[in-house]
Amino acid sequence: MRFDLMAGTAAAPLAPIARTPVVLVFDSGLGGLTVLAEVRRARPDARVVYAADDAAFPYGGLPEAVVLSRVLAVMERLMALHAPDLVVIACNTMTTLVLPALRARFAVPFVGTVPAIKPAAAATRSGLVSVLATPGTVRRDYTRDLIDTYAGGCAVTLVGATGLASLAEADLSGLPVPDAAILAEIAPCFVETPAGRTDVVVLACTHYPLLLARYARIAPWPVTWIDPAPAVARRMVHLLGGPLHDEPAGPVAATFTSGARLTPALRTALGERGIAEVAVEAMPLVLQ
Ligand code: DGL
Repeated sequence: MRFDLMAGTAAAPLAPIARTPVVLVFDSGLGGLTVLAEVRRARPDARVVYAADDAAFPYGGLPEAVVLSRVLAVMERLMALHAPDLVVIACNTMTTLVLPALRARFAVPFVGTVPAIKPAAAATRSGLVSVLATPGTVRRDYTRDLIDTYAGGCAVTLVGATGLASLAEADLSGLPVPDAAILAEIAPCFVETPAGRTDVVVLACTHYPLLLARYARIAPWPVTWIDPAPAVARRMVHLLGGPLHDEPAGPVAATFTSGARLTPALRTALGERGIAEVAVEAMPLVLQ
């Protein structure tokens, strides 16, 4: 199965929008904040809405059928609430599974976030690349297909981290996250063979760059960490066009599907990222 994830439905740019566009950035939780920052930098004039399906977080351990139906249901609600001109799916776990279904259901253009395997293959010198992702993304045919297509000459280690996205959320919420817990999640990325050792790690979950400074401090040896967020923002600009003016559009509106973990420390962290208010649109996850 091959589908063009990073581009819009048609890779062609949209007809120019003369008014302030509305861009919806959607993730299962707080990881999309790493993409939000790049989206705001690229289109400071856009009205940006951040949406988190925190009621169903984490998506990485959910069965594919559950993720598929959940994302379509939440997106239906978000479309009705915010009427975006473009949607950024700021989540690898979602993108590698649900993007074709979203494009089939909704007329709005979608930009996805996929494991940055192509740039990693271009950057490695040792030929040893690791892909740090959720267990869901590691299992996807799409991820394997990217490796076959772009990293044929590399030895790629897929690391499905079971708790790292939750650790990133805990850290942002002001809870203590010991180095040892983070190291246990990232350690399998560091592979040493007689021929050399891993020199590039793909951050294939949008939550993971939230802890980048910690990885750099505790990693067994220095590596290049690849974050796809700037490339995602560039794709958005390709489709939507550049800023209409220099005036910032003001605070980011946010919609969460639970809001249960909104600690004061998290509200402060959201404020620092431009989110002043969070509206809760309660959508509990019901597993049959
Ligand atoms: N932020 C999501 C991603 O990029 C994953 C987090 C989750 O497991 O829900 O894959």
